[in-house]
This record gives sequence, C-alpha cells and structure tokens, in this order.
Amino acid sequence: MSDMSYSKELKLVGVGPGDPSLLTIAALRAIQSANILAYPVHKEGAESMAINIVSDFIRKDQNLLPLLFPMVTSPEVLKDAWKKAGDQINDCLKKEQRVVFLTQGDVSFFSTSSYLLLDLKTRFPHIDIRLVPGITSLSAAAAIGKLPLILQKEQLLVMPTPSTPLELEETLLEAARQKRVLALLKLGSRWLWVKPLLEKLNLLEGSIFAQRVGWPDQEVMPANAIPANLRPYFSLLVIRQSWPDIMP
Ligand SMILES: C[S@@+](CC[C@H](N)C(=O)[O-])C[C@H]1O[C@@H](n2cnc3c(N)ncnc32)[C@H](O)[C@@H]1O
Repeated sequence: MSDMSYSKELKLVGVGPGDPSLLTIAALRAIQSANILAYPVHKEGAESMAINIVSDFIRKDQNLLPLLFPMVTSPEVLKDAWKKAGDQINDCLKKEQRVVFLTQGDVSFFSTSSYLLLDLKTRFPHIDIRLVPGITSLSAAAAIGKLPLILQKEQLLVMPTPSTPLELEETLLEAARQKRVLALLKLGSRWLWVKPLLEKLNLLEGSIFAQRVGWPDQEVMPANAIPANLRPYFSLLVIRQSWPDIMP
C-alpha cells in the first residue's frame, strides 16, 4: 500500500494538568473513540503523567503505545526520536487503527505533541491531524491559587525558568518596567536559588508557587511558604510585581 492510499485521522489530545475532572468532553470523546492510545515517555518503561491522568477511562480493548521522547539536548538524538515516533504513529494509521496521542496539559503549550505535529505534517501531509486543546498547568495553578493571572493592560510572559540568577534578575527588571506578570515553568531544582533571589528583591510575597497541580499531593501557595529546597519537575512559579491602578 502506498503512503497516499490511506487518509487517516490522528488526534493530539491535551489531557489537562493532572486532575481527570479537568479533561474536556472533547478529550474524553477522542479517547473513547480510539483503539490505540499513544503517549510520551522519557525513557523505556518510564511512567507517563498523560496516561495516568486518563487511566480510569481506558478500556481493555484499547492498546497502549508508549513513544520515546528522551529528555536530552542532542539535536541528533531528538530528531531521531521524533522521526521514530512519527513512523510508529504512521504505521498504526496504515493498519486502519484509530490513534490518539495523549499529552499532559495543553497540546500546544510546551508540548511533546508539537514535535509530532510538525514532523508528521512535513513527512506525511495526507494524515488528517486534529488537535484537542487541554487546560494548562498555568491556568489550573491560577484557579487553585485563586489568583487573577493578568488584568487590563498587563502582559504575561510564560517561559522556562532561566538557568542563572543574573538572567532571571534581568528578566524581572524588564517585567517590572512593562507591568508584565512572569510565569516560570520547569522550576524544579532552580527553586534552590530562585527563592533567595526573590527574597533579596522583595518579590516573594507577590509570587505563587505551584507543584503537581491537580494531583492529590498538589501544593499551591504563596512562594514565601515554600522552603528553598529541591522541587519536582512539575512545579512552576507566577511572579506579580505590581497591580493595575484601578482595582476593587
Ligand atoms: C514541558 S512543560 C508541559 C506543559 C504542559 N503542556 C501544560 O500545558 O501545562 C512541563 C512544565 O510545565 C509545568 N507543569 C506541567 N504540569 C504541571 C503540574 N501539574 N503542576 C505544576 N507544574 C506543571 C512545570 O513547570 C513543568 O516543568
């Protein structure tokens, strides 16, 4: 069969930050209609947050397909892994299987799905790819922390936590000038030095720390309540340095 003789549909589905009740109806429908549930793992046999989130909704007749997306920086290794994952999905579609790729949080927000999307769009343009958006960890953290994320003319900058204190200090200075709220993802072990820096700059009080949002052990609280120790990969920080002039 030539690649062009089949035209199949693939759904890339955001499953939210952790709490299964934050799955959308569209996500649930996509999951129920699939016979292959693919999901990313960072190494063979590793746990997957995405599959854990939907575990209550998996049927016995559905097959699971872990796809390897290693957490490395080597471009060759990454490109090779994206290509292999794309090939595996394409092989399933060739066999007339209905495939859903599950991704934690939202499907377009610092997401593994994006690599799959771009690879498949280029190499297998006849595949009909649909994206099902999910609730991001950031939206969920704001909701649990009862925190308005941005208001009026404010800006929101979402970025991975910078790798050095100097870089973060410069980012904070610019954010203050622009009335920009900062959301720092991939906080993890950087919290060891981020906390003392925020303390020095007197910014701890306006910052919200969120860890494993949507999981039974979630912590969402003012940053000054969190000791400066190692934190899990699934942690983030929202730093607000000011409020708009007109407020309730
Ligand atoms: C590769 S990004 C994935 C973001 C995800 N697609 C989303 O929509 O939230 C991983 C980073 O998102 C944040 N993150 C994802 N899930 C989280 C959760 N449940 N609680 C706290 N932070 C989370 C962490 O900062 C983590 O390092």
